[in-house]
Amino acid sequence: MKNAAYYNGTISTIEEIRIPLEDRAVYFGDGVYDVAFCHNGKPFLIDEHFDRFYNSCRLIRIDFPYTREELRNIIGELISRLDDREDVLIYWQASRGTAPRNHPFPKDARANLLVYVKPKKITKLDEPMKLCTVDDIRYEMCNVKTINLIPNILAAQTAVDRGCDEAVQIRRRLFEDDGTEYRDVITEGAHTNISVLKDGVFVTAPLGRFILPGIARKHLIELCRANGIEVLERYITRGELMDADEVLVSSTTTLVRRACEIDGKPVGGRDTELFDRLQRLYIDKLDRDCM
Ligand code: PDD
Repeated sequence: MKNAAYYNGTISTIEEIRIPLEDRAVYFGDGVYDVAFCHNGKPFLIDEHFDRFYNSCRLIRIDFPYTREELRNIIGELISRLDDREDVLIYWQASRGTAPRNHPFPKDARANLLVYVKPKKITKLDEPMKLCTVDDIRYEMCNVKTINLIPNILAAQTAVDRGCDEAVQIRRRLFEDDGTEYRDVITEGAHTNISVLKDGVFVTAPLGRFILPGIARKHLIELCRANGIEVLERYITRGELMDADEVLVSSTTTLVRRACEIDGKPVGGRDTELFDRLQRLYIDKLDRDCM
């Protein structure tokens, strides 16, 4: 098959699969999702994606009825049906269930599971990205990987409108749990995490309510620590972003790339050696884990 999709026990193609009108994903975007990558037929870091997915379900109180092994088997079954398994994107989402439109949780509804897999090449690793900045207008549950992505979609479209590859979201004001206030700080991209290299240190926004705990971000941190590169998890300002030695964009399907321009001004390009090293470490990890 060119691609394969699953919905509540039915397997077909992405084009053919049907979901009911009253799936709460349709009316409310009432669900969560995750995206993983599969290389040489082997899902990469899949258990960490499962951890995040089950945590997303918990945080929005979806009682997800499939065990991790059931989910793993469904994904494996879909991948096995593909003609081309070399590089594959794995998408899955759970919605709260199917019920007439009504805001509170439906009683006795069972969560719906939608999964699809399709070939996807990771490209342009050597190409620096053009970024633009946008206001981060999202709510305070950005750690939940919800399918409700309107602000992210608007940010991504703004990037396209401005001839850019990705948008960097900036919170005008945020309060951490301990009451600390930050102004005009970088949170993350529309669909990626943003980090910088400055004076040999990897700096990235802290985990919490204002960013998605990216799996690529986590592994970049681990690779830095294992290779003697200092890591700081703290917010940076727009000024620090523009003044960074390198600006890094990471995600499951981007891996890690550097930026060369933000809002039309040149950025980065001052520590390509460290960037190249980090990117190589990450690609090597992918190759090693998916041998
Ligand atoms: N996006 N931040 C946001 C808002 C994201 O949507 C993503 C991933 C990331 C990076 O997370 P990870 O390294 O785990 O992919 C950060 C996925 C790929 C998507 O929505 O398609």
